Amino acid sequence: MTESFLPGKVGLAPMAGITDYPFRKICFEYGASFAFTEMLSAKSVLLNLKINEKYFPRTDERRKTGIQLFGSDPIELAEAARIVEGKALWIDLNAGCPATKVVKRSAGSALLRDLNHLKLVVREMRKTTHKLSVKTRIGWEKNEFERIYNILVGEGVDAIFVHGRTAKQMYAGKPIWDVYNNGDVPIYLSGDIYTPEDVKTATEVSGADGVVVARGSIGNPWIFLISNDDRFDAGFVTLAEKLKTILRHLDYLEEEYGDHGALVFRGFIADYTKNLTRAREFRVHAMTLKCIDELKKAFVDYFANIESEQSEVAYDGKNIFG
Ligand SMILES: Cc1cc2nc3c(=O)[nH]c(=O)nc-3n(C[C@H](O)[C@H](O)[C@H](O)COP(=O)(O)O)c2cc1C
Repeated sequence: MTESFLPGKVGLAPMAGITDYPFRKICFEYGASFAFTEMLSAKSVLLNLKINEKYFPRTDERRKTGIQLFGSDPIELAEAARIVEGKALWIDLNAGCPATKVVKRSAGSALLRDLNHLKLVVREMRKTTHKLSVKTRIGWEKNEFERIYNILVGEGVDAIFVHGRTAKQMYAGKPIWDVYNNGDVPIYLSGDIYTPEDVKTATEVSGADGVVVARGSIGNPWIFLISNDDRFDAGFVTLAEKLKTILRHLDYLEEEYGDHGALVFRGFIADYTKNLTRAREFRVHAMTLKCIDELKKAFVDYFANIESEQSEVAYDGKNIFG
């Protein structure tokens, strides 16, 4: 098996609108081995690099964060990759996004409709990149992953990330973890990784080098800590730790966006309050708040209110964070 250039086995998967710098920072603090930026359009990088700068990895994470590009024109993608290559650990090509607005531009998972074209794209990008990976699905409408894998290996990619569903499946049905893997290149599985057991099973059945966690990390960055250390499980996360993390996440959002961070945080409220007492009522209120300070106060009050009722559910006496 080829040695992976990636630092570790359990990374944060790319998620547009979610994996911004504040959230990556939180996930790194809890032990994510590596992460991706949100996807950036190659065309937009070429048209106006400055506008895209805010999405690039920051100095403190540059050695463990990749920039994901999407597009369909081989020359455009290769040129965009050349321009941003020095700003990240590696460059990833998005060949998996099934969103209509991306597929309409023949990008994302649309690259899987014509594998000869995919091959050309990867060939050009290979010329301008030091480290190159592709994040793909197992096929457009049927499982063709063996062919995709062989094309990518043939073009010399440094790693493959595979979400075990077809593009047509979107997010429906169970993903395949038992994907084709000939051991030619490091491979990382994506799809329905929610628990440490999932990490273990997914890597075992596929022989993959690791996994990337997407939805399972939203409001649950502890998945990385837990996945990297067998001794811990989700039951150990105390209410106090949860609140501390939420407040820190809000601080990072404020540093990044000012009060606009309160709107960005709406994507996390439901998951951070999963399984908590009277969560539904709290969420309705929290979703109306427009300032970071208001949100912080609301969370502090809510956690204080539920602590007496909830402590034995979320807190089992041991705080793994010391
Ligand atoms: C909100 C959201 C945004 C996503 N954005 C991207 C993206 O920009 N690039 C990409 O390659 N995959 C993207 N994905 C796909 C995930 O990286 C991942 O492959 C998929 O969600 C399956 O993993 P999961 O079951 O752990 O969520 C996105 C998924 C979600 C839920």
